[in-house]
Amino acid sequence: MRNFAVAVWFLASVCTCAKLPPGFKKCDREQRDFDECVAKAAEYAIRQLDRPLKRFGLPSLEPLEIRDISVGPGRGAVAFEQNFTYLHVFELTNVQVTYTLNFELEEYVKNGKKFYRVADGKLVMATENLRANLKNLFDGDKVLEAQINKVINDNWELVLDQAKGSYEVILGKYFSAIFDNLLTPGFKTCNRHRSDFKECIRQAVEDAIRQLKKPMKEFGLPGLEPQKILNISIEAGTGPVAFDQNFTYFHTFGLTLGEVRQFDIDFVTETVAMECFFPKVTYEFEFSFNGTVMSLPLTGQGFGWIVMEKMTYNMTFKLERYAKHGRKFYRVADEKLVLSTKSIRSRFENLFDGDKVLGDRINKVINDNWDILFDAGKGNYEIIFGKYFAAMFDNVLARASIAELFGGP
Ligand SMILES: *[C@@H]1O[C@H](CO)[C@@H](O)[C@H](O)[C@H]1NC(C)=O
Ligand SMILES: *[C@@H]1O[C@H](CO)[C@@H](O)[C@H](O)[C@H]1NC(C)=O
Ligand SMILES: *[C@@H]1O[C@H](CO)[C@@H](O)[C@H](O)[C@H]1NC(C)=O
Ligand SMILES: *[C@@H]1O[C@H](CO)[C@@H](O)[C@H](O)[C@H]1NC(C)=O
Ligand SMILES: *[C@@H]1O[C@H](CO)[C@@H](O)[C@H](O)[C@H]1NC(C)=O
Repeated sequence: MRNFAVAVWFLASVCTCAKLPPGFKKCDREQRDFDECVAKAAEYAIRQLDRPLKRFGLPSLEPLEIRDISVGPGRGAVAFEQNFTYLHVFELTNVQVTYTLNFELEEYVKNGKKFYRVADGKLVMATENLRANLKNLFDGDKVLEAQINKVINDNWELVLDQAKGSYEVILGKYFSAIFDNLLTPGFKTCNRHRSDFKECIRQAVEDAIRQLKKPMKEFGLPGLEPQKILNISIEAGTGPVAFDQNFTYFHTFGLTLGEVRQFDIDFVTETVAMECFFPKVTYEFEFSFNGTVMSLPLTGQGFGWIVMEKMTYNMTFKLERYAKHGRKFYRVADEKLVLSTKSIRSRFENLFDGDKVLGDRINKVINDNWDILFDAGKGNYEIIFGKYFAAMFDNVLARASIAELFGGP
């Protein structure tokens, strides 16, 4: 547990927005200036919320809408029960109220990394002024209504003092939830002008891949554990791999355990070079083969698996720029994937209509000659998988502008 306070000042005259990095800043607890980073991130975040940011699960703060709020009668000046529906708070993004947010954070571990979440949040409000106008009091009695509004406005300090506790609790919970969203893992963005941009983006991509144990709908990304390809159909080539290959339910396991060894984006040539290393990748599928392998007949259909260890997926993306609603985006114009591996084991069940002798023999031939077969056969897979990853990358690029993802030029 760790306690710290973030005092966020909203002064219209001092807008430091331009100096802040684009996108939502995620703060690493290991970094020296964690507190300052979080304060800046929160301020920046709040200023952005004049529109909802769905991809971060954040509502708009202009206005902040609270559907139902019920405050019990207090004692003293504010001894009345207050129920509001559709309470709209305006100008939260730009007002001269000081909200001091005290968050108590707790640490938790996800995918082997430590994150914070908000364990408790307290909000203290202070303002220089308050004006209120409550309409339709006393069933619309104008005289009484004016009277009570005058009393509230004349005594606003007293009223605020006594009433704010309840609002602080409710708004505090609300901001805690918002802040929690900033601390939870999502896609990290990196500013291209940072000196550690290369490492930042490499890490961000690796984190993103590891998070894909579950789909990320807001980015149009499917889950990758397993990666599911409905069917693959490859016509017989010539040479060692001269057989028709049809697969259905082609599932790949182990992709979310990848290490991104390199993710270099060149903004001049608009290319991305990415190298991903996987300790172990397992493919499982229903297959149907017909033709020859290493000049020996191969036919049959059934269940099969292939395990590749120390595998590298080396991807190159050529990007192109386009404009949408006045903002610039990238899309993938071309891609190339090169696969390499240090070992392959495989098993294809039910070859030759279940003839065990023939089946075992051909499985042994395939395992003994894996390197020759891999080199001869991988080209088709590089094209198919390459298109798949390009489509995924494209989905992310389509949802955030170049400036949002990498900062301005
Ligand atoms: C306020 O809401 C509570 C709970 O819904 C209800 O019991 C109470 O009667 C309401 N008071 C007023 C003044 O509307
Ligand atoms: C392969 O999948 C495509 C859609 O992705 C479908 O149109 C086609 O019918 C499928 N073929 C087989 C043999 O399952
Ligand atoms: C593979 O699928 C194609 C197209 O559906 C079909 O023409 C071919 O006969 C299939 N081959 C095998 C070996 O299943
Ligand atoms: C396998 O290929 C041979 C000729 O190459 C063809 O006669 C046969 O019908 C094919 N079998 C299947 C299941 O596709
Ligand atoms: C991946 O491609 C890069 C060039 O982009 C190259 O330097 C590296 O050796 C390749 N790695 C593998 C394992 O092919």
